[in-house]
Amino acid sequence: MMQKTAIVTGAARGIGLATTKLFLEEGRRVAMIDRDVPALMEAASGLENVLPVVCDVSQPDQVTAMAAEVEAQFGRIDALVNNAGVADFGPIDETDFERWRRVMETNLDGVFLCSQACATALKAAKGSIVNIASISGLRASTLRVAYGTSKAGVMHLTQQQAAEWGEWGVRANCICPGPVATKLAMAVHTQDIIDAYHDAIPLNRYGSEEEIGNVIVFLCSDKASYVTGQVIAVDGGFQSTGIGLPSLRL
Ligand SMILES: NC(=O)c1ccc[n+]([C@@H]2O[C@H](COP(=O)([O-])OP(=O)(O)OC[C@H]3O[C@@H](n4cnc5c(N)ncnc54)[C@H](O)[C@@H]3O)[C@@H](O)[C@H]2O)c1
Repeated sequence: MMQKTAIVTGAARGIGLATTKLFLEEGRRVAMIDRDVPALMEAASGLENVLPVVCDVSQPDQVTAMAAEVEAQFGRIDALVNNAGVADFGPIDETDFERWRRVMETNLDGVFLCSQACATALKAAKGSIVNIASISGLRASTLRVAYGTSKAGVMHLTQQQAAEWGEWGVRANCICPGPVATKLAMAVHTQDIIDAYHDAIPLNRYGSEEEIGNVIVFLCSDKASYVTGQVIAVDGGFQSTGIGLPSLRL
């Protein structure tokens, strides 16, 4: 039997790189997709069984070429992890159309485009999609008009994919990570935000890249063979608690 494969977008660092390494430990070949060329080449250089492909997931032509290259090199696509994302926190009044589009084109358009480009190969392999949204898509909050809305869109897009592609045996699930101290998060998390997250999260800490990656790998595995159309928070309990009342704290 041919070795199983996975495509991970945004694989040059953070959650995508950690997920790549976990897939490799499972014996998969991994196509690492990113638009940051130096970071991608550096990340891939120490790894075996990877295919680094430079691609901006928001650009339809690049995505079509990426999917064709992975199919040509690997011969099959068993898993697609739509992880590439950008964050931009700002008030609605200051989020001009350019800022809005910059977030949407990667976070939402990218998921749509990559999934569509890989659909035929995923159907042939009865493969699996995992889309990375965020707790910011589960709960509205200030400053997340573009980011939060893009991630809420990803959650629904996942359910559309599960509804339509289930007939071919393709599963689609969505993960909503809580805060993880990656470059993306640290660019928008002030010390105040960091302290507030610690306070509001039952497990009292940020998650690690591997803690998110482990759930991604599980959802792509045969162990999750009857799981599809689900939105799963991997967030230390943040979503389950709602707004905490300071006077009820221990
Ligand atoms: N870190 C967190 O706290 C957190 C929380 C919730 C959700 N997420 C989501 O997890 C995912 C991974 O984030 P991370 O924290 O690892 O971020 P990160 O910035 O460390 O990594 C993101 C990677 O995506 C790549 N990328 C961005 N736009 C791209 C594009 N258009 N085409 C190709 N590559 C692109 C970047 O170059 C980078 O390598 C994102 O979708 C993010 O929204 C992160």
